[in-house]
Amino acid sequence: MIPGEWLEARQEWYGLPGEFYRSEAVNARELDHVWRAGWLFAAPACELPRPGDFLTFSVGPDPVLLIRGDDETIRAFHNLCPHRGTLLCDADAGHVGQRLVCPYHQWTFTRGGELHSCRGMHADLDRAGLGLRPVATRTVAGLVFVCLAVRPPEFAPFEERFAPAVAPQGFDRARVAHAVDYRIAADWKLVWENNRECYHCDVGHPQYVKANFDTAEAEHDTPKARAELAAALDRSRAYWAEAGLTCDHSGVGLARFPDPADPNPFPVSATRTVQVAGYETESLDGKRVAPFMGQLRSPLAGVLRLRSLPNFWAHASCDHAVLTRLLPGTPGTTLARVTWLVDGAAREHTDYSLDRLLPFWKLTSEQDWKLCELAARGVASSGYRPGPLSRVREYNVDAFLRWYLNRIR
Ligand code: FES
Ligand SMILES: [Fe+2]
Repeated sequence: MIPGEWLEARQEWYGLPGEFYRSEAVNARELDHVWRAGWLFAAPACELPRPGDFLTFSVGPDPVLLIRGDDETIRAFHNLCPHRGTLLCDADAGHVGQRLVCPYHQWTFTRGGELHSCRGMHADLDRAGLGLRPVATRTVAGLVFVCLAVRPPEFAPFEERFAPAVAPQGFDRARVAHAVDYRIAADWKLVWENNRECYHCDVGHPQYVKANFDTAEAEHDTPKARAELAAALDRSRAYWAEAGLTCDHSGVGLARFPDPADPNPFPVSATRTVQVAGYETESLDGKRVAPFMGQLRSPLAGVLRLRSLPNFWAHASCDHAVLTRLLPGTPGTTLARVTWLVDGAAREHTDYSLDRLLPFWKLTSEQDWKLCELAARGVASSGYRPGPLSRVREYNVDAFLRWYLNRIR
């Protein structure tokens, strides 16, 4: 149990009290009320192109198996055997020929999760209910989400916000160019707090601020920043209309998310932004790093930014997309997987190379993880006290913390 006074202890426009980063009770409550309650981004569907392709991941202590069935549908299951609970699939990813086989007593399961054989069991065994236990799974515009709850919240916000915004990007016919897994020595909330502000960007991400309008100038609304942004928006708006690129809000980089007025318990948003003159994509030199993706045929598409709480954000340019998935690891650690997508027809070495595709978001991500780990070191100390948040630079951090406390109350 979390002591009631903790839940009321946070002062508005201040950080979280230290207990929220170090208490086991908080951790357990987050698992139930956040991680086992909301829709979690699992993978791009194109990572499992053929029936039998699978991947695994764990949400805290809960292992999950994602597999494409013989009917082409991607399904998720609790990755454990209904006989005596053994972890069924120990590999991170791979391909299942015809049957999944439990390593303990070799019960076998179809690629759709049904029990196929259980040799050695008594003849009158009631086999009903002995298939793999399903986890709710939905795919929208090539992105697969799962929910561990028995009664998941509505998926409609994902359909409404992601389906029209993502469709032109062609995620459903993309390919995974590369993925990197990180174990961040910081609580997942610190990772989101960092993600929800660009106060740290000028110094923390020198390459990112050259390309994007998330910086101090744009946010502080100077005449110079306004003029540059207006010019960039003029360049893009006609193309957005012509190409049917719709989403909730378009314009300056850092959108309001989560929106404190959004009644959805697990907020979702998609916004399209423009880049600084000279940047056709999010690459170090601003030049494109892969062929156009999906229906996009111009860098005027800008960057589509997606986010959903508690575990997903993505930036999709005209030529590639970068997806970030967070999962809770052991208490105090966060597992992040960063995945680069390119058009399905693009070929490595001919159409793109990893040394040009990866650096922008690899650098940006690793710079962030480092800052999160430094923050984790400090908030773990008995000397830590919550500090004030900037109303001009950290409004989204405040909104995130309010969302979080509402979830675990
Ligand atoms: S635990 Fe899987 S077959 Fe026995
Ligand atoms: Fe950052």
